[in-house]
Amino acid sequence: MKKEFRNVFKKEGEVSYFSPGRVNLIGEHIDYNGGHVLPCALSIGTMGVFAKNSKRTVRLFSQGFSKEIYSFEIDNLIKEEKSWSIYIKGIIFFFDKIKRLESGFDLLISSNLPIGSGLSSSASVEMLIAKYLNDEFSYNLTPLQLVQIAKKVENEYVGVSSGIMDQFAVTFSKENGAVLLDCNTLDYSYVALQLKEYYLVVANTKKVRRLEDSKYNERVSECTEALKILNKNGISGGTLCEISSSHLLEIKKLLPDTLYKRVKHCISEEERTLKAKQYLNSGNIVGFAQLLNESHASLRDDYLVSCFELDTLVDLINSNGGIGARMTGAGFGGCTVSIIPQDLYEKVVQTVSEQYLKKVGYLPEFYLVKPSEGVHKL
Ligand code: GLA
Repeated sequence: MKKEFRNVFKKEGEVSYFSPGRVNLIGEHIDYNGGHVLPCALSIGTMGVFAKNSKRTVRLFSQGFSKEIYSFEIDNLIKEEKSWSIYIKGIIFFFDKIKRLESGFDLLISSNLPIGSGLSSSASVEMLIAKYLNDEFSYNLTPLQLVQIAKKVENEYVGVSSGIMDQFAVTFSKENGAVLLDCNTLDYSYVALQLKEYYLVVANTKKVRRLEDSKYNERVSECTEALKILNKNGISGGTLCEISSSHLLEIKKLLPDTLYKRVKHCISEEERTLKAKQYLNSGNIVGFAQLLNESHASLRDDYLVSCFELDTLVDLINSNGGIGARMTGAGFGGCTVSIIPQDLYEKVVQTVSEQYLKKVGYLPEFYLVKPSEGVHKL
């Protein structure tokens, strides 16, 4: 990339950073409901070679995509909704407000994350830029502050009401484990992933979606509305995930069916996530895999964020030797995460691919997960 940087920008790259993608193992759609989530960073992600320039201009070149340099002025940021540059502009926008950026920069960027696949390609880009600006322009912000800025980019600049999980996972992950994050208090701990004779596998439906186009914001408002009704009717809890499942019968009477189902998912998913931590700590991989299946059923039937492609892939993985699988990320397309016995892996990939092709019309893609370190300088 340094060589390409020289070819493109006719100067030397100064520094390089790597920012991973993430996969969420369990705790889906509950980060914005004050629940626990259990993601880990992937070994694939976004790489950037940077050099400062002497203007207030940012020049971008995406390896493998760009035909020419794309440049914009820090003093005249124009949002392009359907372009990945919106994430870069969003981060620059908020940094420049904190303290005027002393100059622009040139960036050669390259990603091996499938875009729009639920592996947080956008959070990966955001944290790459946030980490670079923080370190090289002496902002001295803490990692948590960087995460909060990137969340603001999603919420206020891009317009998705997403939670904190993706940016947190991309920043705080460590090798060999997952992060258990309490999204209410932001307390976190690491859970080792010792999966014995099993692999952790991500499979991509190849059905692309963008959060902005999906029903993501609708789910967020449904949860807010449900919580309001419950609070008014004497069920206390600052967030849905603080409410105990012992209240479910009562809740059913208070809410319209749709809202009841959303709440049921949140409360049960929170319980599953805490159980998952216990199972992983005690080496009960079969129990953990079973929780993935239960989580998928809840996301499919109660939270309604799955789709034909995700359901098909989950079913095929399980019926061909996988011991647990579910959709991961926002849903509506994107990826599944699953537990597959190592000795069956090749066979599962082959048969699932053949059968998925027959049912869906194109091939899925498989990746072995190697839990990795969060965003860092190279
Ligand atoms: C997206 C959002 C996250 C989270 C997941 C669903 O990835 O960015 O904040 O809500 O969906 O768990």
